[in-house]
Amino acid sequence: MRMALRFVLPLLLVLGLIAWLAAPAVGGLIEKWFRADVEMRSRLIFNSVQENVAEQVRSGSSRQVDGLFRRIAQDERVLALGLCDNSGKLVRRSAAWPASLGCPGDNSAEPSFTVAHLNNGSVLAASFALASTGAPQGHLVILHDLGFIERRLSSAESYLAAFLGFLGLAAAGVTAIVARLTLRGWLSTLQRGLKGQPGTGSDRRDAPEMAPLLREMRKAMRSLEAPRGLSDAIRVDWGPDSLRSLLRDEMPDAEVLVVSNRQPYIHNMEDGKVTLQRPASGLVTALEPIMRACGGTWIAHGSGSADSLMVDKSDHLAVPPEAPAYTLRRVWLSDEEQDGYYYGLANEGLWPLCHIAFVRPIFRASDWEQYMAVNRKFADAVVAEATTPNPVVLVQDYHFALLPQMVRERLPEATIITFWHIPWPNPEMFSICPWKEEILAGLLGSSILGFHTQFHCLNFLESVDRFLASHIDRELSVVRDVDGNTTLVRPYPISIEWPPVALADTPPVDQCRELVRQRYGIGADVHLAVGVERFDYTKGIADRFRAVQSLLEQHPEWIGRFTLLQVAAPTRGRLSAYQITQEEAEGLAAEINERFGRDDWRPVLLVARHHEPDEVLTLFRAADLCLVSSLHDGMNLVAKEFVAARDDEDGVLVLSTFAGASRELREALIVNPYDIQGMGEAMHVGLTMPADQRRERMKLMRELVSEHNIHHWAGRMLLDAARMRKSRAIQNQMVQAVPAGGGRHV
Ligand code: G6P
Repeated sequence: MRMALRFVLPLLLVLGLIAWLAAPAVGGLIEKWFRADVEMRSRLIFNSVQENVAEQVRSGSSRQVDGLFRRIAQDERVLALGLCDNSGKLVRRSAAWPASLGCPGDNSAEPSFTVAHLNNGSVLAASFALASTGAPQGHLVILHDLGFIERRLSSAESYLAAFLGFLGLAAAGVTAIVARLTLRGWLSTLQRGLKGQPGTGSDRRDAPEMAPLLREMRKAMRSLEAPRGLSDAIRVDWGPDSLRSLLRDEMPDAEVLVVSNRQPYIHNMEDGKVTLQRPASGLVTALEPIMRACGGTWIAHGSGSADSLMVDKSDHLAVPPEAPAYTLRRVWLSDEEQDGYYYGLANEGLWPLCHIAFVRPIFRASDWEQYMAVNRKFADAVVAEATTPNPVVLVQDYHFALLPQMVRERLPEATIITFWHIPWPNPEMFSICPWKEEILAGLLGSSILGFHTQFHCLNFLESVDRFLASHIDRELSVVRDVDGNTTLVRPYPISIEWPPVALADTPPVDQCRELVRQRYGIGADVHLAVGVERFDYTKGIADRFRAVQSLLEQHPEWIGRFTLLQVAAPTRGRLSAYQITQEEAEGLAAEINERFGRDDWRPVLLVARHHEPDEVLTLFRAADLCLVSSLHDGMNLVAKEFVAARDDEDGVLVLSTFAGASRELREALIVNPYDIQGMGEAMHVGLTMPADQRRERMKLMRELVSEHNIHHWAGRMLLDAARMRKSRAIQNQMVQAVPAGGGRHV
């Protein structure tokens, strides 16, 4: 209705104006036509009676003339007739001749027509010369009433106005209907185009005139959906402040929720006292500075023996303890849940499935049940913690493959960013998982799914392609599932805080060397290599020991002059694969020490205990070499932490080609951990590398990590998320513009 009125009013106004402007001209024209008509009638009357009248005049028969006039005046248009003599005097007239009207006063032989305006209207006086045998006999004057012209003019004006009014209404109605249908067509074309539904463009329902606009809009949407170029082009010095301003400016309404299995702070009861531990987890190392910068809530398993004593009644705790910046929400798991979900499906199933370390994955149906239940439990916690309908939920790692979809079902507006911290296997490998479809579908509940490397993204896309019905846009790296939900799959190489917060309290390099040598009884002339990890079979610790053995065999000059200090935090110790790994490494270290060691020197020092971050930094600063020989690793943050610790720009990194970090830290000595002799040789090269080369390499690696730090990692993901939120908002507006079946707002 609004639409019709919008057209009717202006149209009626315009038509009214046209009618008003045109009325005088049209009236004049019509009047002219009627006058010509009346004049012609006067001539006809004159022609048919002139002889008769002339005859009667000549014979002087007044009565005959009057009778004739009476008969002619019966014509309804003829008002009266009169006879004027040659002197212009009215000598005879019919009854209706107006008293106030004399002869027209024109004595010419030619007919003349004059309009006389009388009290009761206008009359046309047509004067014709009467002649008989050449002698003038006066004029016959025929009066026609022109009142009918005025009457007809006024009714013609009324008809014209009514006609124009009707025309206006009809034109407005038709225009409104056509415009409405056209707009509807355009909007649904836009809707389909923006949703990117297959067939758009070639679809016959698409309005062809919309093609250029649609192309432009798609281009704009693409640039929003494919933020690779944009976000990569934005060169920012990423740090806590830039991350905070990104959130403030780009996602002002965003509430940040993190979900991970491992919590950033663990409270344990030791000897009747509560102690605080920061876990050995690359994930925690990476995420903690982000939460310190952004605030929000971190939901994680409360695994410590004193965790429940430290929380409030909502299971909340403000952390970091020394300067609270965000909330830790602890979720409690029963032993049964932890066995099935954490030890079972996550660490005996998915962990070996995703890492090529030749440990056979174990899949038990009972573990899967617990995995589903615990994912549901954490999804409930996310929903309970969310105070807005569209939080930004950062889901971490392989413990929560099902959670994204579970959250999406209950918070459809949420921006869910899932990061998979470990490698993604190739489709053949992945196919052995009995719940592969469920895992893929669960992950596709994410708005963004991140991996460390492009290679892992491609493996994931191949797996989706192989096992799920979905549409994959390989150019944009977007998966669209059967319900139309889209997931952007991108590499976001994870990193560390720059500079590490603990570095400020760590002594200078010389003192660190001193400290470590004293603490572990290492001689001043001994070259020191360090290895720092969890005791995990993926880390290649035993292979590293074998490489030390090879070094000593191939280069005996290092006997007595080289030690590897290996720090390994026991992890997942309930699982036999981990027990075997630790036993093998300990046995091998003992063997090598037995073979090459002396009373005052051992080639391998294995310290199997957890080290806090400041202790680890001290170790890195004391080392000549850092060995990272992972058999397979998503990224490996130890490599980056070593680089960050070396503000003296010294030290050599020996890095496995199978760690994601080797894609970035190209100035490291890259090794294949399965090539024991090659790794031994690399160690020798590192130990003998000239100082200026060591410095050059370390400088380049430090530049890279300082720029691509953890805030850069989070910033890129959040920028993509912000663009996605904006793009979704545009899409929602477009979709709402054409409500199903109605088009009320059109
Ligand atoms: C890897 C995983 C993390 C995990 C960490 C420590 O880095 O990607 O999710 O937290 O290992 O393992 P844990 O089982 O002790 O948490």
